[in-house]
Amino acid sequence: MNELSTGTDALFERELAAHLRALTSSKMEELRAQFRAESWVLLGRLLPEAWEQRVRREAWDVLERRGVQRDISVPETGHSPRRLRNVRQREIAAETEILPRLYYAGALRTLVAEIAGSPAELCPFAPERFVLASMSRVGDTHGWHWDDYAYALVYLIDAPPVGAGAEVEYLPGVAWEKQQPCVQEHLAAGRVRKRRVESGEAYLLRGDTTLHRVAPLERDATRVVCAMAYAHPDDLTRAITHETTEAFYR
Ligand SMILES: [Fe+2]
Repeated sequence: MNELSTGTDALFERELAAHLRALTSSKMEELRAQFRAESWVLLGRLLPEAWEQRVRREAWDVLERRGVQRDISVPETGHSPRRLRNVRQREIAAETEILPRLYYAGALRTLVAEIAGSPAELCPFAPERFVLASMSRVGDTHGWHWDDYAYALVYLIDAPPVGAGAEVEYLPGVAWEKQQPCVQEHLAAGRVRKRRVESGEAYLLRGDTTLHRVAPLERDATRVVCAMAYAHPDDLTRAITHETTEAFYR
C-alpha cells in the first residue's frame, strides 16, 4: 500500500464509516431480508462523494499501467468466457492508496457482516481480496461462474450507458460442482435475475452459491469495477482451490 499521511488515512476511514451508517442504518432490515431472499442486494453509493473521484483516478491509473487483456474460458465454470482487462491484487495493493484501505476498512466489513448475518472475514487467499476489471469492447464479458469465497462486494467505478448491455445476471441457490458445473442445466431450470447498477453504486452478492455473470457488452462502452471478496467463517476451515483466479490473473 502506498503511504498516505496518517491524517488522510484516518479521515477516509472516518468519513467512510459515517457515510455507510447514513446510507444503510435506516434500511438495514430491508437489506438483510433482500440478501437472505435473493443472495444479492444493492447497497447504493458506496463512497462519500469527496472520495469517489480520487478512487476513480487511482483505479484508471493502475488499469492503464498494469491492466492485462484476458480472453480465456474456464473449464471449472463450463468453459464460460472471460473477455476483459484486469489488474492483479498485488499490484493494486502496491500502487494505489484508497482501494486497499477500502477493502480493509472495519466499517465496510462490519456492513457486510450485518447484512449477511455472519462474520465477514478477510479472504484468506490474498489474490482474490480486491481486483479491478475493465470491459470496453462489444462482446467483452465476465461469463457465468461462481466465486471461491462467500461474499463479493462489487463497486461500480464506471457503469456503461443504458442499452449497452453488461448487466449483472444471477441465479441464487446453486452449488458449484467444479468437476461437473452443469451451467447450462442450471440456467435452463432456474429464473435468472438481471440488474443494472449505476456508476458509484455497489452490490453485495453471495458469490459461492449464486451462479452469476456480467452479460456481454452489446456495443463499445466502458465498465470498470473493483471486486472485493470476504469469507464466511466456514471458508477458513474447508479446502478451497482457486482454478479461476490462477487462470485469470496469471
Ligand atoms: Fe464473481
